[in-house]
This record gives sequence, C-alpha cells and structure tokens, in this order.
Amino acid sequence: MYEQPVPLFLAPMAGVTDLAYRLLARECGADLSITEFTAASGLSRHDASSWLKVESDHREKPFIPQIFGGDISEMVTTVELLEHKADIIDINFGCPAPKVCRNNAGAALLRSPDQVIEMVRACINATNVPITVKMRLGTGSGPNTALEITQRLEDEGVERVCVHGRTLRQRYSGEADWKQIKEIVDSVDIPVIANGDIIDAKTALSCLEVTGAGGLMIGRGAIGRPMIFHEIKRDLGWSVGKPPWGDDNIASSRLWCWNRYLELSSELYSGIRNKNLKRHAVSFTKGLPGASKMRVELHSIADQEKMGDRVKQYLEELTEIETLTL
Ligand SMILES: Cc1cc2nc3c(=O)[nH]c(=O)nc-3n(C[C@H](O)[C@H](O)[C@H](O)COP(=O)(O)O)c2cc1C
Repeated sequence: MYEQPVPLFLAPMAGVTDLAYRLLARECGADLSITEFTAASGLSRHDASSWLKVESDHREKPFIPQIFGGDISEMVTTVELLEHKADIIDINFGCPAPKVCRNNAGAALLRSPDQVIEMVRACINATNVPITVKMRLGTGSGPNTALEITQRLEDEGVERVCVHGRTLRQRYSGEADWKQIKEIVDSVDIPVIANGDIIDAKTALSCLEVTGAGGLMIGRGAIGRPMIFHEIKRDLGWSVGKPPWGDDNIASSRLWCWNRYLELSSELYSGIRNKNLKRHAVSFTKGLPGASKMRVELHSIADQEKMGDRVKQYLEELTEIETLTL
C-alpha cells in the first residue's frame, strides 16, 4: 500500500477533456483537471473557437488552461489574456503532432532547452498566475533534455512539471519510462507529476513506487472510464467514501457517469453541438457485451439527444446483468 495519497490529475486530452468531462472526472475523484491544449496563435487573436476550449465553471477549481505555441510574444499575450480567469496556466511541451512540431511548438521545443526556458521565463514575467509545464522526456534524437529543462525551470520559478515518460519520436509506442521520471523527481524540489501508462490501481502503485512522484496524471486510462480515479483511491486505501454511482458494478458506474455527462453537457453546452459526444459514446461502451452492435446504430443517429438516449438505454439494459460486477 502507498500510504501517502498524492493528487490524481485527469490528463489534458484534445477531443476528450471538454469541460463537462473534466467536471465529471472531478466528481469521480480526480483532484485536478486541465483543458485540452489550445493554440496561443488562436487565443492571442481572439479566435472564438479557441476561447471555447478554455471555458470553465466555478466547480472547476483550480482552473488550469493549457496553451502551446512557438512564438513567445503570442504566448505572453495569451498569458495576459488568460490571467483574469486562470488559477494556473500550463504550457505544453509534449505534443508530438507534426502540425504543431512544424511550427517549433509542443515537444519539438525539447530539442532546444534554451528556447523552452526563454518562453517560460517570458510567461512567468508576464503574470502573477503560477505557471506549470507538461513535457515529454525529450525528442528522441540526441540525449533527453527533460531533466536539464526541469532543473532550469525550477530556477525560473515554475510551480510544477508533469513528465510523460516517452519521447517525441516514440509518440505512444513502447512503454513509458518511469525510471527517467524518477531521476527528474530526485533532481528537483518542485513537485514532479508522473504520466504514462497508468491504467488502474496496480499501475498507479507501481508508478509511485518507481518514481516517488508528487502526483499521477492519467490520460487514456480515463477515456470512457472517469471512475478510474475513484477506483485507484479506493484500491490504494486512500479513504474515499461510497462512489456517487452506489455499488461497484461496471454497468451501473458507467450508466451513472454517462447520465451525469449528458446532464453536465446539456447544462454547459445548451444550444452548442458537442463535438466530443460520439467519441465519448464509443468509449463509455467499449468492451461491454453487445456494444459494437449498438455502436453501429450510433453512426446513423445525427441528433445528439437521441444518441445520448440510445447509449443510456443500452447501459440501463446492461445494469440488469448481475454478472458484470468488478
Ligand atoms: C486523444 C489524446 C489527446 C491528447 N491531447 C493532449 C493535449 O491536448 N495536451 C497534452 O498535454 N497532452 C495531450 N495528450 C497526451 C496525454 O495528456 C498524456 O500525456 C498521454 O496520453 C500519456 O498518458 P497516458 O498513458 O495516461 O495516456 C493527449 C493524448 C490523447 C490520447
């Protein structure tokens, strides 16, 4: 057992962690959540769709928008524009997408620690809001730079870093290297959050034992499974009460989460099309009996309310199958 609870973060994930999903994850036990990465080029030009990505709500405290960019003046302008609403601003140096890296942003910047430091320093100087950083181990060409960067960022006054234990070149292949995260944890005094391949209580515990990290961040393991945060805390003995879904039945927990996601979406996005709904419908039902057949039907449902209801009906039917207990 890992006696000392550490904060559990819902990882920022484009196309997944919309505001309703972040609030849902919080209700399921996530301690912190971060918006999906949003381009400083869009935010600094007041682009409406970029600003929609950094919407929040009083229930999401602290509110942490994540930004990325390759141009320091756009990053500074963005920080200044976000300052009044953000509790913390997170900067992304982890995105491997070619269209981001081509603009010398995201994980591409890890090849040049000086540029990372210059950008973060300018952002810190522009605001009183704490700045945090999320990065990969390095680019994968040449030695990894995350350790050097973290040490230098500590000197600049960064509050916390999160390290995904893969390189840019790896994208999502291979295994996250928690041992390299441990070296970083041991080399600084600021909190280092470990990220990569945590999918349940067992892997959460192993990651903590290997890294000694100050917190854990969970991405793919929380897609369609926001209840993972409750499960980890419960299984590691971090005294949590009963979950909001009552009993630990897979179908009933997913049904509760789905209904709550729909409720939060209709409250928060009323009149706005939820572009993530279908993706969530697929992931909430992944691996469950008869789900692939039901999902075929989803492709022919254009109306979002009907899509929500169809998944709800499917999960309701499943709750009647008692053998699906955890
Ligand atoms: C669909 C998807 C979207 C992602 N979008 C972002 C993002 O916007 N910002 C970011 O820092 N990382 C993003 N990531 C990376 C995750 O935050 C996380 O670092 C990565 O998935 C490794 O953690 P995991 O093994 O728990 O999934 C994304 C990952 C996925 C799968």
